[in-house]
Amino acid sequence: MERSWEFLVSFIIIFPLLVLLLRRLKSSGHGQLPPGPPGWPILGNLFDLGTEPHRTLADLRHKYGQVIWLRLGVKKTMVLLSAKSATEFFKNHDLSFADRSLTENSQVHDYHKSSVALAPYGSFWRLLRRLVTVEMLVTKRINDTAFIRRKCVDDMLFWIEEEASKLRSQGRQGVDVARFVFLTTFNLLGNLMLSKDLLDPKSNKGSEFFTAMKSLMEWNGHANLADFFPLLRWFDPQGLRKNMERDLGKAMEIASEFVKERMNERELGSRSEKRRDFLEVLVEFEGNGKDEPAKISDRDLNIFVLEIFMAGSETTSSTIEWAMTELLCNPESMMKVKAELTKVVGAENRKMEESDIYNLPYLQAVIKETLRLHPPIPFLVPRKAMKDTSFMGYFIPKNTQVFVNAWAIGRDPDVWDEPLCFKPERFIDSKIDYKGQHFELIPFGAGRRMCAGVPLAHRVLHLILGSLLHQFDWELDGSVTPETMDMKAILGITSRKLKPLLAVPTKCMA
Ligand code: HEM
Repeated sequence: MERSWEFLVSFIIIFPLLVLLLRRLKSSGHGQLPPGPPGWPILGNLFDLGTEPHRTLADLRHKYGQVIWLRLGVKKTMVLLSAKSATEFFKNHDLSFADRSLTENSQVHDYHKSSVALAPYGSFWRLLRRLVTVEMLVTKRINDTAFIRRKCVDDMLFWIEEEASKLRSQGRQGVDVARFVFLTTFNLLGNLMLSKDLLDPKSNKGSEFFTAMKSLMEWNGHANLADFFPLLRWFDPQGLRKNMERDLGKAMEIASEFVKERMNERELGSRSEKRRDFLEVLVEFEGNGKDEPAKISDRDLNIFVLEIFMAGSETTSSTIEWAMTELLCNPESMMKVKAELTKVVGAENRKMEESDIYNLPYLQAVIKETLRLHPPIPFLVPRKAMKDTSFMGYFIPKNTQVFVNAWAIGRDPDVWDEPLCFKPERFIDSKIDYKGQHFELIPFGAGRRMCAGVPLAHRVLHLILGSLLHQFDWELDGSVTPETMDMKAILGITSRKLKPLLAVPTKCMA
């Protein structure tokens, strides 16, 4: 009798352990999955993410190591947390993970099928990417459009000055810098893409388009439960799909009107602007009709237009906001960068030009240091395993999504000295840059799916920050001090400052 009790107790304890073990072995197929926090039934590790998931997951490195495994609802997820694992990933496994992991929102109106950033790795993606990198953003074409960026940045300086004096007259002070930078980059991209001033107060279509795009970015920035629990797709519990359908539909409709307008102008030969903007490159494209289409379809054109706005506007404004925040909290760096601008650009009324960037190493170091500490897309755009893959001794099943935590990698203590300090000097006399060869600094990603807009982003970031700093002196607003500055981020479509920076432009150069 006693023996049968013993047997029963052992069975009760051992059986579940055996089942767990077998499941684990089964799920890992031919080997071991990376380690990770245990997670809850059904929900998996959703509760482990917190409000700043890049930070929370970075902290898991102490317990589980540089490559960790999560289950987010039904989504198998690998997260890379170190420069070493990113080097291995991009150098030796880039092709196995060249597909994107899609969200519910990204599939509304079949957006993903026409998008460069989300298209599956294949001939259509290759074609779009070639058009961006070889036709639209080659050095000569970027040089030829310097005057547009100058004009948009001049407008921004004017708006900021106007806003500052309006606020002063109301007894308030701080300007929401990121808002003006966002408007500027949006307008700039409108000019480069479509040769249109979308923020011209006379353009109703422009302001409707702006509003629809702002909403799209908002919906895209929300975590969607339906991504983790496919059954919820049918119920759309947060209403995100409905909102996305409405606003994406609206934005596509307006984009298609812009495209139609261009087609008409081409037919009538009435186009006054002779510059070959991005839209003209797409419209003129003629493919071989075999491994690439003979023409880019209207639908693909419309989505391409939207994509460039999504890719370039918030990323730029969030970087500038963090750069200004760090400089205002580190007065010595602020002094150095302003002194360099005065020396190179001049104390007189000359404005900073893109041709000055090369001679402004400290400004370049400030941008790199900002992107190291605050990459706007902290997990990059998630990749997906195209097949079962062996990675750093682990078995990674097909369709696993991959988060490369660029935020954690920028703070990896194995490669960065004093990783948490804002110290632009670390980049002076250093060869490290963000062009995809140095895996410890990857705010634009790396490998085949690296950001296609780097040459443009590089110019715009330096021109905007340099102009803001050269044109004005800046102070923190009201009672905020470097010690009390809130450095928390909120993760939407990019990682923005949770409390927008309010900064006071005190002296205007002009
Ligand atoms: C501060 C500015 C910017 C940052 C930090 C940024 C960052 C990124 C990142 C992290 C990715 C994903 C890379 C990967 O998965 O490895 C990406 C993709 C992309 N970016 Fe940017 N970006 C910026 C500006 C721009 C601009 C101005 C454009 C276009 C005009 C652009 C166009 C794209 C495109 C088309 C992709 C998709 C590439 C592909 O999947 O092949 N980006 N960007």
